[in-house]
Amino acid sequence: MDKDKWMRMALRFVLPLLLVLGLIAWLAAPAVGGLIEKWFRADVEMRSRLIFNSVQENVAEQVRSGSSRQVDGLFRRIAQDERVLALGLCDNSGKLVRRSAAWPASLGCPGDNSAEPSFTVAHLNNGSVLAASFALASTGAPQGHLVILHDLGFIERRLSSAESYLAAFLGFLGLAAAGVTAIVARLTLRGWLSTLQRGLKGQPGTGSDRRDAPEMAPLLREMRKAMRSLEAPRGLSDAIRVDWGPDSLRSLLRDEMPDAEVLVVSNRQPYIHNMEDGKVTLQRPASGLVTALEPIMRACGGTWIAHGSGSADSLMVDKSDHLAVPPEAPAYTLRRVWLSDEEQDGYYYGLANEGLWPLCHIAFVRPIFRASDWEQYMAVNRKFADAVVAEATTPNPVVLVQDYHFALLPQMVRERLPEATIITFWHIPWPNPEMFSICPWKEEILAGLLGSSILGFHTQFHCLNFLESVDRFLASHIDRELSVVRDVDGNTTLVRPYPISIEWPPVALADTPPVDQCRELVRQRYGIGADVHLAVGVERFDYTKGIADRFRAVQSLLEQHPEWIGRFTLLQVAAPTRGRLSAYQITQEEAEGLAAEINERFGRDDWRPVLLVARHHEPDEVLTLFRAADLCLVSSLHDGMNLVAKEFVAARDDEDGVLVLSTFAGASRELREALIVNPYDIQGMGEAMHVGLTMPADQRRERMKLMRELVSEHNIHHWAGRMLLDAARMRKSRAIQNQMVQAVPAGGGRHV
Ligand code: F6P
Repeated sequence: MDKDKWMRMALRFVLPLLLVLGLIAWLAAPAVGGLIEKWFRADVEMRSRLIFNSVQENVAEQVRSGSSRQVDGLFRRIAQDERVLALGLCDNSGKLVRRSAAWPASLGCPGDNSAEPSFTVAHLNNGSVLAASFALASTGAPQGHLVILHDLGFIERRLSSAESYLAAFLGFLGLAAAGVTAIVARLTLRGWLSTLQRGLKGQPGTGSDRRDAPEMAPLLREMRKAMRSLEAPRGLSDAIRVDWGPDSLRSLLRDEMPDAEVLVVSNRQPYIHNMEDGKVTLQRPASGLVTALEPIMRACGGTWIAHGSGSADSLMVDKSDHLAVPPEAPAYTLRRVWLSDEEQDGYYYGLANEGLWPLCHIAFVRPIFRASDWEQYMAVNRKFADAVVAEATTPNPVVLVQDYHFALLPQMVRERLPEATIITFWHIPWPNPEMFSICPWKEEILAGLLGSSILGFHTQFHCLNFLESVDRFLASHIDRELSVVRDVDGNTTLVRPYPISIEWPPVALADTPPVDQCRELVRQRYGIGADVHLAVGVERFDYTKGIADRFRAVQSLLEQHPEWIGRFTLLQVAAPTRGRLSAYQITQEEAEGLAAEINERFGRDDWRPVLLVARHHEPDEVLTLFRAADLCLVSSLHDGMNLVAKEFVAARDDEDGVLVLSTFAGASRELREALIVNPYDIQGMGEAMHVGLTMPADQRRERMKLMRELVSEHNIHHWAGRMLLDAARMRKSRAIQNQMVQAVPAGGGRHV
């Protein structure tokens, strides 16, 4: 505790105590003074009696003998006693007849002629005196009164020094008591605080720890209860049924996280400007991540930080590299970050897509890890972390970090914005620990991700794989009940499944023609006959998507069910992607070769079983394709979620169409009414296509209705809303802890 706080705390105890003691002294002083005065007076009276008793016979004798000189001499000797001021002799008529030298001139006889001794106080100019009057008698005859005067000034002097001693004593007592109280209070508060901090952190040993203050147990129990209700993994966000949409998301932010600044970080940007034939063109990339996040940013606003990868991107930004988007109705800011070719090669093509991508997907492509790629990966993560810090205008923004390109960024941001709420979403699967162990930088990647406040995966299975990996490779504490990892520094990360989804209804659907027209349009555009059943596949040209296996399944369908020859076509559109990498070139070549082979084998003059269109399609074109199709094939070998499956369902407001879905896509956990297939079982997949093509209309409708219900409810706003609700709970919980730590001014804890 610093000196000022310590002084303030000490004063808090000292001042009231001194005030109370002062008041007591002030009230008690007259009574105490009176008592002391009484004691001294009794003492003086007793002395007077003693003097009188010892001299009375002598004085009476002298008076009776009329020897004035003898009386004066006697008075002189008695008056030598330092307390005795003077002696006087009053006759029976009350007249002062003899007196010693110091008898005050203004003082006469006390005037009491009784035989009993009397004591009166006379207040003279130079102080008070006690006049003790005793009757003198000789052989039974009264001979007047002997009056002994005692100076009472000494009582007053003693009284005033007694008062000073009393005040000093009380003052000293007050200071000592306050000091001891302050020290004891400080030690006790420190004990309480550390008990509280250990208790809230749930550190092992709490409760039975001998350092724990037992009197804190009830408070700790209550606090834990409150925190648990905020942290419970199946809490408010899951229990309350909300119709999630842009409005509910906006009000969630407004009500639960007022003033929260939203920053998104992803590699892929939502709008790409390219220079084509001397003209700037705008492209919306084929990216599930973009499909998911763009509606959220449109609803909530904020800043999206991404790599400016387009050839005309730099022409479109302002001097801060900002651009207001969407171009037609700006709702948020796109901040472009520029990467050199060398950076892109190492970070994006190298570590991210030749290393982590095959590492996380079980597609039997060998991951490649190069130290030079890792260097670039670290440097680019640092560059984006710098951009986050530069864009943040508050100390505690909500930072939504996207995907495997930025495994190190959460920790980098955490170091510089310790109060930020960092929500990281891993859009691809997380491998089991054996698989993950082949990554040479596994510890760094895990530690980087644990800089997040919340780490999301699509499925519980991927969460468990991640927790197992942490358990295997990092020193940390894992609370499996709460799904929380606490690293060695005490930072906590909530690890939860948040199955990603799409906008409902997709915004592009409003401009898409009715289903009949779409069928017509697509058939005309691709030369497909009216009686031909149409299956569609829409992907990036990625080896994880199982495009070649899908073609093999078409071949199997035609072999096993020749009635479909001439009556079935698969229209596969595939956006070329990561084409610089050999695994991708091979994938595309293999698919093109296979399509040509199958067409060669089964094709007729005006009919081909496989139409492969290797180009990017804009969202409205994709929706048109979905609406034109009888079947949609999603046969990923491995996929975090696969939003194509959900987009197909969303496109079918006519409640028709059959979805054939790989069991290895995260979407299969939710879309149970799809025909679930194993993409490695080619014949089985061919059979599923046959089942789909021959499925009665009412069954198609039933299945599609159920899937549409699920996606409409679990839409992208639901995905974001659940994460933001968890983040809001976390911020509130942290605010409670901060308040408590501030209320008890000692030490400090973070991320409890
Ligand atoms: O699946 C992971 C992911 O980031 C998706 O979100 C997205 O569809 C895809 O990869 C995009 O890849 P890229 O940005 O490399 O083209």
